[in-house]
Amino acid sequence: MGKAEVLALLREDEYISGEEISRQLGISRAAVCKAVSSLRTDGCLIDAVTNRGYCLKAAAPEESRLRALLQDCPWNVRVLRETDSTNNALKREPNAPHGSVLIAARQSGGRGRLGRCFSSPPGGLYLSVLLRPRAEAAELLHLTPMAAVAVRRAIQDCCGISAQIKWINDIVAEGKKLCGILTELSGEAGSGTLSAIIGIGINCNTLPQELPEAVRPIAVSLRQLLGKPLDANLLAAALVHRLYEMDAALLTQKNEWMQEYASACLTLGKQVQILRGRTRTAALAEGIDENGCLRVRYENGETALICAGEVSVRGMYGYI
Ligand code: BTN
Repeated sequence: MGKAEVLALLREDEYISGEEISRQLGISRAAVCKAVSSLRTDGCLIDAVTNRGYCLKAAAPEESRLRALLQDCPWNVRVLRETDSTNNALKREPNAPHGSVLIAARQSGGRGRLGRCFSSPPGGLYLSVLLRPRAEAAELLHLTPMAAVAVRRAIQDCCGISAQIKWINDIVAEGKKLCGILTELSGEAGSGTLSAIIGIGINCNTLPQELPEAVRPIAVSLRQLLGKPLDANLLAAALVHRLYEMDAALLTQKNEWMQEYASACLTLGKQVQILRGRTRTAALAEGIDENGCLRVRYENGETALICAGEVSVRGMYGYI
């Protein structure tokens, strides 16, 4: 008798006392406490109120619920309680088929672009999908921007929030980071064995105090924006649906998706700094090309196309 049974007794809008749980399951009060604490570590948000008991505020990603929500999607979705990084975990499966989706309730070694760490406490949604596109790497430069549009659409579907995009891989709301995307390609060019892993980390129910101090001022979660917790399964299902739609559109509806990307991109029209290693160059962000590269104009009037590579773009005075 363990936490699955305890979880089954918790309701989203009703409190149940520890005593009642212990009576119904025939386990000790200490075992109830232990199960609740373990469920919290898994990413469940459980409220505890003296004299009332426990109430489930938001469920963590759960494979059986996700499968039920994704009956019309042929992709294979698995949920892990914890892994180092869902991108790494998929890389460790060289034979995983196209459309393998891995979700974790937390990551011990989450990775971001440019070798950065991506803090991944419980409450966030950490999802990677493996695609085996029938295309060459050069035809897939728009993969991250298309994934950004898919994330934006999923957030709109699930929460009614119209998020923006900070070039190239951040989803932003109220000027703060809601989500980051890390796309990794592998396989030999021209060999027809190319695979792409798109990793997406969304601050779903993340509490600011669970993030590193340096990140807190520039991060926001859906929970903060909505003023209440969100069922991570609904968000994950919306995201998988939108990624599935993206995969179908990858080579045929690129222009339409890239137009949506450009119109949601808050970097455009702004003075930015282009960061290459330790070098910072000021420029005006003027446009986005069909591959998602940023067209900029330097102060000397020259223009250039910035493609993701080793570059990051910041606002003149901060994150945006
Ligand atoms: C960034 O902000 O630079 C990108 C962050 C990408 C984070 C996601 S979480 C799921 C997947 N696993 C990882 O280790 N990274 C990506």
